[in-house]
Amino acid sequence: SKLKIGVIVGSNSQQSINRQLAQGLVKLAQDQADFEFLDISHLPLYNRDFDGTPASKPFQDFKQKIRSCNGLLFVTPEHNRSVPAVLKNAIDGGSRPYGDSAWAGIPAAIIGTSPGGPATSMAQQHLRNIFVFADMPTMQQPEGFVQWKDGLIDAEGNIGPASKEFLAKYMSKFLAWVQLHQKH
Ligand code: FNR
Repeated sequence: SKLKIGVIVGSNSQQSINRQLAQGLVKLAQDQADFEFLDISHLPLYNRDFDGTPASKPFQDFKQKIRSCNGLLFVTPEHNRSVPAVLKNAIDGGSRPYGDSAWAGIPAAIIGTSPGGPATSMAQQHLRNIFVFADMPTMQQPEGFVQWKDGLIDAEGNIGPASKEFLAKYMSKFLAWVQLHQKH
């Protein structure tokens, strides 16, 4: 059966360019896996008082979705040279209560876009640091530093010609990585 891949977009902007990139990436690989977008924008700001109370329900549901995936693709912007708060909050809530993290062992890859030259590279490096502690086998190469330019995504939502080959290869390497690191 096909791999199930959860896609987590690190932005709650309605017009998110990272969501547009994520949708384009899914289109490139849609016959190689089943993709599901795991929404994080509705999650409350986590704190440990939630644990064991009804307040933890949104995170329990989110954790169940994470655990149903064979792999996770993180498509994230960079905020002030680091991981956006909305994404860090989702990671934190999904990692608790202590000893019951949903992330452990799930193979992942990180990619993102911004208009700047460094193209989210520092946010991605910070995310890698978090994923070491979260115990997620994270694809090292190719890296996904995608500069947002006119034509990156065409009018139909497909990846444009300049980046299509690179990003198709990125996705097939990611799916091979997920296959190789399956949790048993
Ligand atoms: C940004 N932006 C940004 N871009 C970048 O390349 N490096 C950065 O450190 C930052 N910092 C930053 C902080 C905050 C609070 C905001 C709102 C934005 C710009 C960012 O790349 C741009 O807004 C993108 O459109 C964000 O991606 P989404 O939300 O459209 O997917």
